[in-house]
Amino acid sequence: MKTQFYTATSLDGFIATEDDSLDWLFPLGELNNSSYPEFISEVGALAMGSATYEWMVRHAEQVAKETGSPWPYTQPAWVFSSRKLPMIDRADIHFSNGDVHRIHREMMSAAKDKNIWIVGGGDLAGQFYDAGLLDEIIVQIGSATLGKGKPLFPRCVLSPTLQLISVRQLGVGMAELRYEVHKSV
Ligand SMILES: NC(=O)c1ccc[n+]([C@@H]2O[C@H](COP(=O)([O-])OP(=O)(O)OC[C@H]3O[C@@H](n4cnc5c(N)ncnc54)[C@H](OP(=O)(O)O)[C@@H]3O)[C@@H](O)[C@H]2O)c1
Repeated sequence: MKTQFYTATSLDGFIATEDDSLDWLFPLGELNNSSYPEFISEVGALAMGSATYEWMVRHAEQVAKETGSPWPYTQPAWVFSSRKLPMIDRADIHFSNGDVHRIHREMMSAAKDKNIWIVGGGDLAGQFYDAGLLDEIIVQIGSATLGKGKPLFPRCVLSPTLQLISVRQLGVGMAELRYEVHKSV
């Protein structure tokens, strides 16, 4: 079982624009021609912050048109927020607030022997990293720059650095890098 931050980013390290748009991302590649189908088949639980969840709420109609459901995940999900957020119909969601250690234990028991996906954003993935709970970072780097936006991973990772374990080209729009996180604790 691994805890993985799996996400797409712009070449200059942003996962969304400042106003949480992902419109720049979709023309760069097709989800079904990526590692996503294989990746998600191994996921047993997932976590996201409120801005990521609110994107799903705002785009529920579009997501339903594309996936058949306004909430495309069958796995239990933990949504981190200090606020009361609207519920999406028929979604298995646990709203959570605070320290990631306790939530991670809950997620491990729900995921059984499958992986835990940190969907985003970058700071939430950073909180799992800070807690020594992050095993891998898997990024699809889009062939586009945004100049500014929501950061991929606002942490300083120097000693030890990440360990690059694979590189894969996905057409002309994306390259996927997989990193192992070496734990110093
Ligand atoms: N490119 C991609 O593949 C990709 C992947 C994922 C997400 N995204 C997009 O990237 C953007 C990410 O936004 P973001 O960077 O703002 O991150 P986010 O993690 O989605 O949201 C951050 C917010 O979550 C809440 N939060 C985080 N940690 C918490 C904790 N431990 N306890 C309680 N609440 C906590 C806080 O808000 P409150 O307490 O005020 O609720 C915080 O401001 C979104 O637009 C999303 O759609 C893109």
